[in-house]
Amino acid sequence: MRKFCLGLVFAVAAGTAAAQGQVNVICSVQAEWCNMISTVYARSTGTRVNMTMKGSGEALAQLIAEKENPKTDVWFGGTGDPHLQAAEQGLTLEYRSPSLPQLHGWAQQQAKQSNWRTVGIYSGPLGFGYNPELLAKKKLAVPRTWADLLKPDYKGEVQVANPASSGTAYTMIATLVQLMGEDKAFEYLKALHRNIGAYTRSGTAPIKAVARGETALSISFVHDAPGEKMQGFPVETVTPADGTGAEIGSMSIVKGARNLEAAKKFYEWALTPPAQELAAAAKSFQLPSNKAAKVDARVPDFRKIRFIEYDYAKYGASAERRRLIARWEKEVNALPR
Ligand code: F6P
Repeated sequence: MRKFCLGLVFAVAAGTAAAQGQVNVICSVQAEWCNMISTVYARSTGTRVNMTMKGSGEALAQLIAEKENPKTDVWFGGTGDPHLQAAEQGLTLEYRSPSLPQLHGWAQQQAKQSNWRTVGIYSGPLGFGYNPELLAKKKLAVPRTWADLLKPDYKGEVQVANPASSGTAYTMIATLVQLMGEDKAFEYLKALHRNIGAYTRSGTAPIKAVARGETALSISFVHDAPGEKMQGFPVETVTPADGTGAEIGSMSIVKGARNLEAAKKFYEWALTPPAQELAAAAKSFQLPSNKAAKVDARVPDFRKIRFIEYDYAKYGASAERRRLIARWEKEVNALPR
């Protein structure tokens, strides 16, 4: 009898382990949010989440490198443009979630224009971060427009990420090109280069540097500031009065995913209101894509921001991204500062 019981226990344990399985995720949002989703998901489903954190551009580079032998099942978060490029390059799987009707129009549009190979999970506006204490100490004004950032007073005071590794920085280039026209945007980027103290690898590093008083200004997603402020750092944001762009943070299932069923389950969970509300709990304040998800008071108010008509399909195309980044490397990054 005892033998039978033990056998049953082992059989049940083995059965559950197999059913629970694992899912390999590349996570391109802030570490605290990545950790929160992996812990909560693992605890509530028993599925092991093997998570790697990478910026949007680097995540895309990894999927390209793994193309013949994918090790990733789901790519969670990061700006939408590289997810569209992954879709175009056949790196991600066509999957129409039954939850699509529950999402905002912009999130569904992201799915549609990728031929259902990605989906919007959040959105957030691009703007400037500033350290009010440092600006006051240096007797510098708060920049209000893109042109303001070129003032000689700000020399060495502005940080932004490198567009090759960061979706935030690529969103900046695409925004300026749409706002000014391409040649004028590159003249602008060359002039801005003189005021740049550092190009960082990650898109969120500049606002962290502002918060810690290492630099006065950053070009950042404005939803990345409240989390720093909650830790007691002096940091504020402003969106340019002459117009700005927004990201559609996205999620995709990798084509050839080894744990496909687990990937779909994770993906569906990530689209639910409770999963999306974990962002604010982890001090991330993007606008959630599920219409029923609670919107934290610290999420930027989109109605107060002047947005351009961002052409996600055009600037999400591989050839366009490659061309604009190569032009930036050659004409801007190569210049002395
Ligand atoms: O997680 C914060 C965040 O700003 C996201 O909203 C965005 O998708 C991502 O970082 C972009 O990171 P990166 O610029 O490093 O690709």
